[in-house]
Amino acid sequence: MPLGRNRVKPVPSVRESDALRLHSRRVACWSFELADRAGLSLHLKAILWRAALHHHAAALLVNDAGRARLLADLGIAESGGEQTSEEQGVRQVLAAFHRRSEEPVSPEIAELASILEKANVLDEAFETESWNPGELEHDPWVSEILGKLRVLPDDDARYVKQHVPLLPPSAANAIRMDLDSLSVNDLCRMGETDEVLAAYLLRAANIAPNIPPARVETVGQAIEHLGFDTARSIAVAASLRPLFDQANLRKLWNHSLDAAQISEELASISDCSSRPEAFLAGLLHDIGQLVMLQLPANFQARYARLIGEGCPMQEAETVLAGFTHADCGAVILETWDFPSAIVRAVGNHHRLSNPSDKLAALLYLAEFWCAEEEDLPSSIRLHAALSACGLEGNLLLGSELHLNPPVQVLRFGAEADDLRA
Ligand SMILES: [Fe+2]
Ligand SMILES: [Fe+2]
Ligand SMILES: [Fe+2]
Repeated sequence: MPLGRNRVKPVPSVRESDALRLHSRRVACWSFELADRAGLSLHLKAILWRAALHHHAAALLVNDAGRARLLADLGIAESGGEQTSEEQGVRQVLAAFHRRSEEPVSPEIAELASILEKANVLDEAFETESWNPGELEHDPWVSEILGKLRVLPDDDARYVKQHVPLLPPSAANAIRMDLDSLSVNDLCRMGETDEVLAAYLLRAANIAPNIPPARVETVGQAIEHLGFDTARSIAVAASLRPLFDQANLRKLWNHSLDAAQISEELASISDCSSRPEAFLAGLLHDIGQLVMLQLPANFQARYARLIGEGCPMQEAETVLAGFTHADCGAVILETWDFPSAIVRAVGNHHRLSNPSDKLAALLYLAEFWCAEEEDLPSSIRLHAALSACGLEGNLLLGSELHLNPPVQVLRFGAEADDLRA
């Protein structure tokens, strides 16, 4: 399936009003989590949620026309009709948050306004990370807020190591090979001794768009018809696919396969990496999610709620676990003895903390083109990644990045599924 122009995203330029709306929604999520940890009632959480959603609009409270519009938006009658205690609470929290009210507030309202302030600071710290990496760790107030929200114990490194999945034997053989010096003969041998790989190669060779004049029936013919690069990609992907062969991992595999092909294409137009290394790194960039999916139920329930409310995966993981799927990915790949360049790049593929890590920048771009929205949109990070790869944004926006049709036989949901039998 070609990655058509409709899937090529422009450099993000989120409208200010959209950015504020998304920020307010995340602040509502963090507020709810903080209120939950403080043991507040559902009634108080509901007040806080509504106040957080409107905490930027609340500046209008000092303006008569603006106030009328805001209150109508909040569903609160300004005069006449009775206000419920929830509506009064929302007004009081917003007034206290913006320090607009001269009147003393109750301890409850003061606590809600304080929680809203913390949630706002936390989200601003996430946004600031784009141009000031380390903001989260170095700001003591933010660290304290994160400490309150975390649901896992502190010995996370041990926990992650205990949940590293086993590397499938087929993958171990393929990965330990030096992909940059793999030969046609090596590939032929692999295909002739691995029935599943042979089936993928034959199927890939016999599908559109380059259907051969005569049906391809041997591994050697398939490699010749597909071309060495494509055949090698299929071999590497086929070796790792079993790791993702569970209902809850198949979507992740399909995303990883897309990212691998985009990484490979980006490698071919930049000097960030060799094509085989980029393909392999793309396939494994989110492997850490295999560990995240095994985290305890109290993490999973809160995580699902945050994602459902529009929090990016990376932020929800940081808040609840104190580590991310990128961190877990680096631990997994290190345990599997992967080359240090890939371990480092996978660990940094959302952070870009090291401007000279070109492979991490390439993976960041692949994530961006896959449009998975795992992280907060950041034009600063996007431009940093483009610059690390020596690429121009405009050049890329005008170029065609393609998914390679024969490699699609490795997707779950593709006709190739019957080959696993
Ligand atoms: Fe805010
Ligand atoms: Fe990711
Ligand atoms: Fe991803």
